[in-house]
Amino acid sequence: MKLEKKVLNGYIPKHIAIIMDGNGRWAKKRHMPRTYGHKKGSENLKNIALECKGLGVKVLSVYAFSTENWQRPKKEVDYLMTLPGEFEASFKGQFEKEDIRVVFSGRRDRFPKKVQDLIKRVEEKTENRTGMTLNICFDYGSYTEITNAVQEIALDVKNNDLNISAITPDVISNHLYTKDLPKLDLLIRTSGELRLSNFFLWQVSYSELYFAKKHWPAFNKKALLLAIEDFQNRKRRYGGLKEKKS
Ligand code: FPP
Repeated sequence: MKLEKKVLNGYIPKHIAIIMDGNGRWAKKRHMPRTYGHKKGSENLKNIALECKGLGVKVLSVYAFSTENWQRPKKEVDYLMTLPGEFEASFKGQFEKEDIRVVFSGRRDRFPKKVQDLIKRVEEKTENRTGMTLNICFDYGSYTEITNAVQEIALDVKNNDLNISAITPDVISNHLYTKDLPKLDLLIRTSGELRLSNFFLWQVSYSELYFAKKHWPAFNKKALLLAIEDFQNRKRRYGGLKEKKS
């Protein structure tokens, strides 16, 4: 059976996250600057988001800029800051047609004002769309996300709005950037690295992990289908003995 048909016959993960790694190496292999890899990576994000929508995925979260990425050379950081703008210009029409909502997860205070305004505008403009949510993690890091959650919860306790004994995993989840999103089913990392790099450390607790060899700009529809097919063959037991269909 054709791969796509086979995948569509199985359970489609509701929430997929991707660590889009390998833009730099992909460009280097082609004797091009790293920024060219990011440009192609950004174009690929649009394609893969549209493929996910077509398959019936409800949320696609992508790691586009980490809290640690500010350490890169200024020229590269400056270029990465132009990507949300370029991306908006290129996805506008098609994303509207496909009813795709765009949200951003992460700190916002360190971006240039132009980027902050764009994030706000894109989120407001797309907020009523229900076809799929694209969650762009930008200046995102799990340590920051969890630290913020702890600070907010501590403040509720200090103000007598919350008892310490009422702090549950759900309370913590409800203070994370992802509080309105479904549980993460599948995390994909491209480019062959086997680590999480401060991404979705809380969210990943019972997700399936998939590591693809391809660099992000080359991660195409077939690679996505293979990842989902692999996910569909996993048995998810959540610590129990019986398999639970998600
Ligand atoms: C990791 O590859 C990739 C990034 C740090 C940037 C990813 C960003 C995009 C794909 C586009 C984002 C789009 C929007 C809309 C914000 P790397 O540079 O670490 O690659 P390397 O490990 O080969 O050097």
